[in-house]
Amino acid sequence: MAAETKAFSFELLNTDGMARRGRITTPHGTVETPAFMPVGTQGTVKAMYPGQVRDLGAEVVLGNTYHLMLRPGAERVARLGGLHTFMNWPHTILTDSGGFQVMSLAQLRKLDEEGVRFQSHVDGQKYHLTPERSVEIQGLLGSDIQMQLDECIKLPAEPDDVKRAMELSVRWAERSRRQFEDMNGPAKGQGLYGIVQGGDVPDLRLKSVEALLQIPFEGYSVGGLAVGEPQEVMLKMLEVTTPAMAADKPRYLMGVGTPDDLLESVKRGIDQFDCVMPTRAGRHGLAYTRFGKVNLKNARHAEDPRPLDAQSACEAANTYSRAYLHHLVRTGEALASMLLTWNNLAYYQTLMAGMRAAIENGSFEDFYQETKANWARGDI
Ligand code: GUN
Repeated sequence: MAAETKAFSFELLNTDGMARRGRITTPHGTVETPAFMPVGTQGTVKAMYPGQVRDLGAEVVLGNTYHLMLRPGAERVARLGGLHTFMNWPHTILTDSGGFQVMSLAQLRKLDEEGVRFQSHVDGQKYHLTPERSVEIQGLLGSDIQMQLDECIKLPAEPDDVKRAMELSVRWAERSRRQFEDMNGPAKGQGLYGIVQGGDVPDLRLKSVEALLQIPFEGYSVGGLAVGEPQEVMLKMLEVTTPAMAADKPRYLMGVGTPDDLLESVKRGIDQFDCVMPTRAGRHGLAYTRFGKVNLKNARHAEDPRPLDAQSACEAANTYSRAYLHHLVRTGEALASMLLTWNNLAYYQTLMAGMRAAIENGSFEDFYQETKANWARGDI
């Protein structure tokens, strides 16, 4: 590691109940937590310029092993200087390991102890993704925060299937760690996270945490949630899992969620989130605001001169009329996606900044109640 390159570290700054205020340092900067990480699956946060994403307060974006290994290929990205350079995002990048996306997108999947064989959903080409290859790809991309390969199964599922997938994920965690060390990940200042599985079975969640704590990961993710179960079950699993996790390592809840999921999960000790929701919803005419969701497709906005939120600091929220946004959505204009994605990511980042400030001040419970009351009021 060059003298000026910072190594991965995590500092716990404050706690308020179970809620935590922290700071992750990586070779590409710092990340104030709790943090929401916009999803940049294909090396782009869809409909946003990288500088715009950063200006909203995002300090880390997520990339995907699965998508980037298919197109343009990890070796090609490496030859072009790595993912930070390729996508013009000089800040922290976290990558998912690919297993989750293989299971939801690829064709003709076959999973065994070694890894997972599949055919690309793009052109049918065959691939074999193993824990070693996943970490190798994430290293080629130059990812600052890498994930072990895991098996995430959808709920509801039989406890025996949940147990098998959790145990396989633990064995893959060990192999992922070895590969990460062989590739000098720690010397490059990068981090590798283990992923807790165990579905909706408390005992399996605890066994998963216990096994992963034996492996010196830089952080720990909670996977296998928001996969078909009610929110209540997800929150119950967090209540079981987070107290058993390392207090001095970051905790990342994968693929979550709605603004309410974020608020409830921070309350239960989660530090990092990613989700396609704000970006995907933005491309489908849906805006997130302080007063809940606004569906701009709806005819009731056709002559509404008000902006989405006059008090927001985001230009997309405080400038353009709902009538104009409705028109852009109805005509399928690119600007509809751009403005609504911008608004939604701004709202998510503002929500996270609000939570961070409240934890610092010891007023998380007040913030929680006030935020819920605004959502309950609704957009009027
Ligand atoms: N994204 C959302 N959930 C998961 C999960 O369980 N594992 C991985 N690797 N990615 C996810």
